[in-house]
Amino acid sequence: MKARLVYIDRKNPDEKLLKEAGEIIKNGGLVAFPTETVYGLGGNALDPEAAKKIYAAKGRPSDNPLIIHIASWNDLEKIAAEVPAEAKMLAERFWPGPLTMILKKRDIVPMEVTGGLDTVAVRFPSHEVAQGFILAAGGFVAAPSANLSGRPSPTKASHVVEDLGGRIDMIIDGGESDIGLESSIVDFTADEPTVLRPGYVTAEQIRALTGAVSTDAAIISPDSGIVPKAPGMKYRHYAPKGELTIVEGGREETAAKINLLVSEKEAGGARTAVLCSTETAGLYGKGLVIPLGSVSDEDEIARHLFDTLRRLDDEHIEFIYSESFDRQGIGTAIMNRLLKAAGHKVINLNKV
Ligand code: TXA
Ligand code: MG
Repeated sequence: MKARLVYIDRKNPDEKLLKEAGEIIKNGGLVAFPTETVYGLGGNALDPEAAKKIYAAKGRPSDNPLIIHIASWNDLEKIAAEVPAEAKMLAERFWPGPLTMILKKRDIVPMEVTGGLDTVAVRFPSHEVAQGFILAAGGFVAAPSANLSGRPSPTKASHVVEDLGGRIDMIIDGGESDIGLESSIVDFTADEPTVLRPGYVTAEQIRALTGAVSTDAAIISPDSGIVPKAPGMKYRHYAPKGELTIVEGGREETAAKINLLVSEKEAGGARTAVLCSTETAGLYGKGLVIPLGSVSDEDEIARHLFDTLRRLDDEHIEFIYSESFDRQGIGTAIMNRLLKAAGHKVINLNKV
C-alpha cells in the first residue's frame, strides 16, 4: 500500500479533501494528520479493528494505549465517564491545545484502544487541519505519533512518508508542527493531578490553576527502576543509531570536553556531531555542528529536536555529543526527550 499524500492549507482547509480523509477513517482505514505538537497516525477510535491496524502499522506493542482526539467540547463526556473539576479547569485554559488528560473511560471506548486500561487519554488539538479532519472522521480519532515505534515523533509530513509511507492510506501534509514535542499528559484518576509526560503545558502552569500537581516519580528519577504510569514512557525511544552522550557543565568546560571527545573519535575515523545552542556553536571546531536554537528561546530548540535526531541517522553519524539545556518552561520536556534519546548517558562536569 502506498499512502496518498495530500497538502491541506491550515489557513484555508480544503473541505473536499478533509471529507475524503474522514471517509477513509469511517471505512476503517488509517490517515496521518498534522497537529500543533507532532503528526498523528489516526484511526477510528471506536473501532477495535482500526486500533489493531494502528499498532501493526507502527510496530507498537498493543499494551501501549492510544490518545483519543476530539474536536468538539460535547464529545468529551461521550468517552469520559468522570471529568473532575480540576480537569474541567485545565481544559478550559489549555484546550484546544497541547494537553492530554487521562480520565475514567466509558464503555463505548474499546479496550483495544486503551491497552486494556479502564482509563482513556483525551486531547482536543488546536491545529485547524486536525480539527477539520477529526470532525469529518466522525469526531473520535485514536492517534499515536505517526512514527515507527522507537523513532522520533514526526514534525513534518516528510518524516511520516519516511516511516509509514508504505503502510497507511493517506498522509495529510499541513506544514511543520508548531511545537515539535508531544503533548503534556496529566492523569486525573489519582488523588492529585499527576504529570505523566512533560510537554508544552508545564507543571508550574497546571499548579497555578489547580493548586496541586505531582509528577510521575518515574520521570523525576528515570534510573530508579520505577515503572512509569504512562505505559509508553517505559520504552526506549527517539534514540539515534549513533551513540548520544549529553555533557553537562559550564559553557566553556562543556565545549572543551566535547571538542576533546570529538577529536578522539574523529582521529579514529568516526563520524561525529555536536548538538548545541546558536550562541555556543562558534565554540566547536570539528564534527557536524548543529545549533538547535537560541538559549533564550526554548521553543525553537523544541521545534528542531526531533528533526535533528532524524538527520543524525540520515548523515550516518556514529557519535553525538549534546549540550544540556535549561529546564525552564518547555525545557523540562526537551531534556526528558533528549535524555531518553541518550539512554540517560550523561557526563556531568559539575560532579567530576
Ligand atoms: O502530542 C501528542 O500527544 C501526539 C499527537 C499526535 O496528539 N500523540 C502522541 O501519542 O504522542 P503517543 O501514542 O505517541 O503517546 C501517547 C502516550 C503514551 O506514552 C501512552 O502510554 C500514554 O500516552 N497513554 C495513553 N493512554 C493512556 C492511559 N489511559 N493511561 C496512561 N497513559 C496513557
Ligand atoms: Mg509516540
